[in-house]
Amino acid sequence: MAFPYQIKTLEDYHQVYRRSVDDPEGFWADIASHFYWRKQWNQVLEWNFKEPTINWFLGGKLNITENCIDRHLGTLGNKPAIIWEPNDPEEHYRVLTYRELHTKVMQFCNVLQNNGVKKGDRVCIYMGMIPELAIAMLACARMGAIHSVIFGGFSAQSIRDRLIDAGAEYIITCDGAFRGNKDIPLKSTIDDALVGIDFVKRVIVAIRTHTPVSMIKGRDVWWEDEVKKVETMGERYFPAEEMDANDPLFILYTSGSTGKPKGVVHAIAGYLVWANYTFLNVFQYERGDVHFCTADIGWITGHSYIVYGPLSAGATSLMFEGIPTWPDAGRFWEVVDKHKANILYTAPTAIRSLMGFGDAPFEGKSLDSLKVLGTVGEPINEEAWNWYNTKVGKGKCPIIDTWWQTETGATLISNLAGVTPSKPTYATLPMPGVQPLLVDENGHEIHEMEASGNLCIKFPWPGLLRTTYGDHERCRLNYFSTYENLYFTGDGCLRDENGNYRITGRVDDVLNVSGHRLGTAEIENAINMHNGVVESAVVGYPHDVKGQGVYAYIIYNGLFDDENLIRQDIIQTVTRIIGAIAKPDKIQFVPGLPKTRSGKIMRRILRKIAEGEIENLGDTSTLLDPLIVEEIKNGKL
Ligand code: WTA
Repeated sequence: MAFPYQIKTLEDYHQVYRRSVDDPEGFWADIASHFYWRKQWNQVLEWNFKEPTINWFLGGKLNITENCIDRHLGTLGNKPAIIWEPNDPEEHYRVLTYRELHTKVMQFCNVLQNNGVKKGDRVCIYMGMIPELAIAMLACARMGAIHSVIFGGFSAQSIRDRLIDAGAEYIITCDGAFRGNKDIPLKSTIDDALVGIDFVKRVIVAIRTHTPVSMIKGRDVWWEDEVKKVETMGERYFPAEEMDANDPLFILYTSGSTGKPKGVVHAIAGYLVWANYTFLNVFQYERGDVHFCTADIGWITGHSYIVYGPLSAGATSLMFEGIPTWPDAGRFWEVVDKHKANILYTAPTAIRSLMGFGDAPFEGKSLDSLKVLGTVGEPINEEAWNWYNTKVGKGKCPIIDTWWQTETGATLISNLAGVTPSKPTYATLPMPGVQPLLVDENGHEIHEMEASGNLCIKFPWPGLLRTTYGDHERCRLNYFSTYENLYFTGDGCLRDENGNYRITGRVDDVLNVSGHRLGTAEIENAINMHNGVVESAVVGYPHDVKGQGVYAYIIYNGLFDDENLIRQDIIQTVTRIIGAIAKPDKIQFVPGLPKTRSGKIMRRILRKIAEGEIENLGDTSTLLDPLIVEEIKNGKL
């Protein structure tokens, strides 16, 4: 059975795109009619970008889990919903059919209810990549609680900030998580996060690594015990809560140009429609295909393309606990062969790191099952694209380069696999419903086709964020105030003569390190916590594998006998405050920072030096102390 709204030809794409712009409401109403609603909407869209107000399918009632699970039971009940491949290839994999997933999600709804979780409560999920993570998210969604998944690489301090911001009274975690040869102590990090916090009522702990943990009386309970309690009461149906189309589904924290991550809020119906529509069209998923997205569910990619997109389409989603290079650099290929994955979706960083291992990891691997390859999260360079195409795709798999953001819910610009043409390093054309434009530095739209500028979107699509949790003004300021009546992406972009878009990277103070999004201000704040640091400035620089590396210029005013130890101390501080993912790659101690007379750091200069462009620094005459630039240049790492 084909999917009714899959675009199958290039002409079809152009026609569908046209309609989505000429009649967006009619277009999205047609798509939405393929979902399961308890009550039909009475208005498709209400919006203005000034406040902003964005509502889709107003008056509609639904539950996302009825769309992701219940409605498939009749036809796909015994088909795999999730195939889980463990970190250790020696351990047995698990398969959850749609029916089993249904049962487990309902069981866990009962567990949540028994532990006091109610509709509208915020539930923080800090787990490794095990099926229980997806079950926990879906159980929250089924009962109307709002989940906020935190990536396992974030520190106690980061968790704490997010818990406070979201007012999350419930936490779901694991004893630990396996990643390669590491055992990451998640519960103990949660314990650190909770020191002095008294509003958290319950921590539910699933067992994965058998790491010793301290279970605090009255607060902490074991996942397995709680499930057993529910089981002894017999199979209990847990009806899905009837939710409003615009009720929040989840909060996901992401970094911006200020020091504090913001809680991006997505609403149920719009997000569901968008994740599903893009999943089916971008990947050209066909019934029975195994979809392998290697992202961590702690990021938006995992939310949209491991959980909600695939499940809403009745797909089989392959979830992988481990990393591409353990036990060896052939692990992805082994997983692809073992589960006959048809679609592989990964980050350019992973591709670049695997390129370095040469051909040996491919020995004995067929990769015959692969039909479609995708990338996400950062710009892909031509060399990596070619390698992916020839070594992994063997020249027979279309490659899709999907550009999108946490805030956009799912893909906005991408070719459709095998349907619209690909162009290496270009995300290519907008999805139906997406109206991109480029603006110049004065905020004017650039009308020439071939151009470069800042990427904005002028009309809402169903997956657009609704607010930043607890601070709507911040949402307005961040995304809707730079240019009037436009959503500003923060990305710079080129457009070729055929209207293909190529995203070149952030134009704000956001870094993309190994596909992980980090704010320079956030890293600076962390560095400045170290008691010897007077001031710091962080910029990105091109990194062969990570895409961008973190370069920190630091003014240090402490005992300075062991420079390397101080560097380690600073790295330790950043790891404590944010997490190991934010560690600076290079730390240069400097006597001062290039500042304007008004005290503003001229990051342009620091960026150039970090990039190795020492000669052409541009105008430095407005600097308070131009000599400082010479000293920084001389000390460059
Ligand atoms: C970057 C990840 C180039 C971009 C889904 C964006 C990309 C940021 C691409 C969002 C791509 C994402 N080509 N750059 N295909 N995909 N980006 O919120 O700078 O973690 O603004 O969402 O990643 O990162 P986020």
